[in-house]
Amino acid sequence: MFWTIIFLLGGIAFVIIFSSRSRQKNEPPLDKGFIPWLGHALEFGNDVAKFLSRMKQKHGDIFTVRVCGHYITVLLDPNSYDEVLNDTVSLDLNNYTRVLMQRMFSLCLPNHSPDAERAWMKQHFQGPSLAKLSSTMHSHLHTLLRDEERSCSPVEWKEDGLFSFCYSMLFRAGYLTLFGTEKSHSLTDLTAVYREFRRFDGLLTKLAHSTLKNEEKKIASQSQKQLWEMLSPPWLSDRGGSTSNSWQQSYRSRLQNEGVDLEMQKRAMVLQLWVTQGNAGPAAFWLLGFLLTHPEAMRAVKEEIKGLTQLEGGLLQHHLLDTVDQHSTPVFDSVLTETLRLTAAAFITREVVQDKILPLASGQQYRIRKGDRVCLFPFVSPQMDPEIHDEPEQFRYDRFLNADGTEKKSFYKGGVRLKYYNMPWGAGRKACVGRHFAVSGIKQFVFIVLSRLELELCDPTATLPPVNPSRYGFGMLQPSGDLGVRYRLKTVR
Ligand code: HEM
Repeated sequence: MFWTIIFLLGGIAFVIIFSSRSRQKNEPPLDKGFIPWLGHALEFGNDVAKFLSRMKQKHGDIFTVRVCGHYITVLLDPNSYDEVLNDTVSLDLNNYTRVLMQRMFSLCLPNHSPDAERAWMKQHFQGPSLAKLSSTMHSHLHTLLRDEERSCSPVEWKEDGLFSFCYSMLFRAGYLTLFGTEKSHSLTDLTAVYREFRRFDGLLTKLAHSTLKNEEKKIASQSQKQLWEMLSPPWLSDRGGSTSNSWQQSYRSRLQNEGVDLEMQKRAMVLQLWVTQGNAGPAAFWLLGFLLTHPEAMRAVKEEIKGLTQLEGGLLQHHLLDTVDQHSTPVFDSVLTETLRLTAAAFITREVVQDKILPLASGQQYRIRKGDRVCLFPFVSPQMDPEIHDEPEQFRYDRFLNADGTEKKSFYKGGVRLKYYNMPWGAGRKACVGRHFAVSGIKQFVFIVLSRLELELCDPTATLPPVNPSRYGFGMLQPSGDLGVRYRLKTVR
C-alpha cells in the first residue's frame, strides 16, 4: 500500500513537472489544454480539422499545442510554408514517418534510406515508366468494368454504394497493375484482398493514434497477418529471386539489398499497398459524388468528353479512352482539383532536431524548440481558407478555370500571390511521387464510367455523406456512410 501511494505521488509529480512548460520570448502562442500530459489529444484525435480551425481563430497562423506529451507547432500560413519545407537541417523529415510505420504496419526498416527509395519510386511512377503503367491500369479497369457490364443490362438498374463501387474498382485495378497479374489472381482472390484491406484501413487511424480498444487490436492484428500472407506471392520465399521486372519484384530486391528479412519484406508490402491504393478510390468517389449532386458540373464534364471523342452511338471509342490521360481536359482537371481541395487532408510533419528560428512571410520570427514537432495542415489553409477561396466549403467545378477556359493559377492571400493555393499532393522533398499515376487512373475510371454507364443517384434529392472526421491528417478523406447510386449499360443507338 505504502509503495502504491509513493508510486502514484511520484507519477503525479512527474506529470506536473513535465506539464509545466511555459511560453518563452519569441515563441509561438502556447496552448497546453487543461488535461495534464494529454493536453488536446482528445480533440486532436476526434476532429483535427475542427480543432485546428478553432486554434487558428484563437491564436492566428502559428501556435504550439500539447498532444500526448508532445509539443506541436502548427503553421497555417501558406506564404510561409517554404520555410518549413525547405529546411532539412533543423527539421527532420523521416523520424516521425518511422514512428508511424512501426505503429501502423508493425514495420521496422533500420537501414532504410528514404531518399534512395524516393528516387527508385520516381523511376517506376514517373517519366517513361508512367505511360506503361497507365496503359496496364487502363486494361485492368476495362476488364473489371467489362465483368461489371456482363451483369448489367440496358433495361435493368443495378444498385450500389458509390464509395464501395469506386474504391473496389480502383483498388482492384491498381492491385492488378502493381501487385499481380490476372492469371495469378482470380476475381475471388482479388475481392478477398480488397475486403481485408478495407477492414485494416478502417482501423489505421486508430493504430496511428494508438487508441485501439482491445477487441479492435485483435482484429487489426489478424487483418495485418492475413494481408502479409495474401501479399506474399510464391516467389517471395524464393531467395534466388526472379528475373521478372515488375515493380513488386524490384521493390523486393531493394529490401533484400538493404538486408531486410523475409518477415519485414512481407510487412513492407502492406505499407506499399496502402501508399499506392489507399487514396485514388476515395478521390474518385468524391469526384463522381460531386458531379452527381451538381448537375451543371456533370453536364460540363460530359460535354468535354463528347467534344473530345465524338461519341459514337453513345459510346466512347476504345482507342481514345486508352489515351484519354494524354488529352487536354481543362474542365475535368478543374473538377479534380476542386474535389481534392475539399477532400485531400494530409498532415505534413517534421521533427525539430535543433532549435530553429522560423521567419514568417509577415516579417515576424518565432523560436521553435528542439524535440518539438512542426506541422503544416494545408487542408485548413490554403484549401479551406476563406481569404483565398471564396465560400470554401462550396463545390464549384470551375473554380480552377479562367474565363478563357485555361487553368486558373492565380490566388491571393493578404494581397500576395500564392505559390501554394491547393496542396493535395503535399510539397517539397516528400511530395507525392504517384501523383501522375493517380490522376491518370482516376481520369480513366471516371471517363470509362461516364461513357459506358448511365449512373444516377437512387434518391435524386440525396446529398453527399459527411466526412468521417477521424480521417483528417491521413490523405484522402473518407465518408461516414455511402451514397446510394444505380447504374445500367448505356444503350447503343
Ligand atoms: C488521390 C490520390 C493521392 C493523394 C491525394 C496523395 C497524396 C500524397 C501526399 C499528400 C503525400 C505527401 C505526404 C507527406 O508530405 O509526408 C504523398 C506521398 C506519397 N505518395 Fe501519394 N497520394 C495519392 C496517390 C498516390 C499513388 C497512387 C501512389 C503510388 C504510386 C502514391 C505514392 C506516394 C509516395 C511513394 C509518397 C511518399 C513520398 C516520399 O515520402 O518521398 N500516392 N501522397
